Amino acid sequence: MSEDRSSWQVKGSSILSELVSLMDLSSDEAALLKALSAQAKSTAPQMTESFYERLFKHENTAEYLQGKPMERLHSMVGEWFTELFSGTYDEQYVQKRLIIGEIHVRIGLPVRYPLSMLDVIMQFGESVAQTSTDPEKTNAAFRKILALDVAIFNQAYEDNQLNHLSNLVGGERLARRLLSGSV
Ligand code: HEM
Repeated sequence: MSEDRSSWQVKGSSILSELVSLMDLSSDEAALLKALSAQAKSTAPQMTESFYERLFKHENTAEYLQGKPMERLHSMVGEWFTELFSGTYDEQYVQKRLIIGEIHVRIGLPVRYPLSMLDVIMQFGESVAQTSTDPEKTNAAFRKILALDVAIFNQAYEDNQLNHLSNLVGGERLARRLLSGSV
């Protein structure tokens, strides 16, 4: 039987302080990203063009977008991208992005799709980072912030599954043990 783990106590937006310390994000790195906020904003429309072009090209992803207000989605995803360069990565930042993750959980979208779209985001984010006075350090900072988003998207999906299973079996500890195959 596996042991209980302290990481099991870390939930929702409190993953922030844990991950920021795990990734060792410094205030210098946050400032380098913030300095590119305007550049990110002007790159956002190109980013969202590529983003939705890819999603519309594939039947299984295009299906989710039929009849959706695309102008609004372009603007929301553009804002999400621009905020990667906001320089402020606090609980509110994480909470807002967790809610975005939850919206995708609720439309029944498999997590592999948002995660694989990080490829497009990475490409445009790196091109923004290249315009920095210190491209190498900024790129490293951008990778950290993007890794934080991978964690947030996953967290939204995991929280949802764990909640459902916990309700079904009558407790989170048992749900965790079932998921790890130890009972
Ligand atoms: C990293 C990847 C992704 C990001 C950052 C992202 C971001 C967003 C944001 C910011 C919104 C608006 C949320 C709101 O209303 O407050 C949204 C909504 C939506 N996204 Fe995504 N998205 C991603 C991947 C995907 C993928 C792969 C699909 C599937 C085709 C998708 C389909 C949708 C749909 C259908 C909505 C509208 C939901 C509704 O209000 O009915 N998204 N997304």
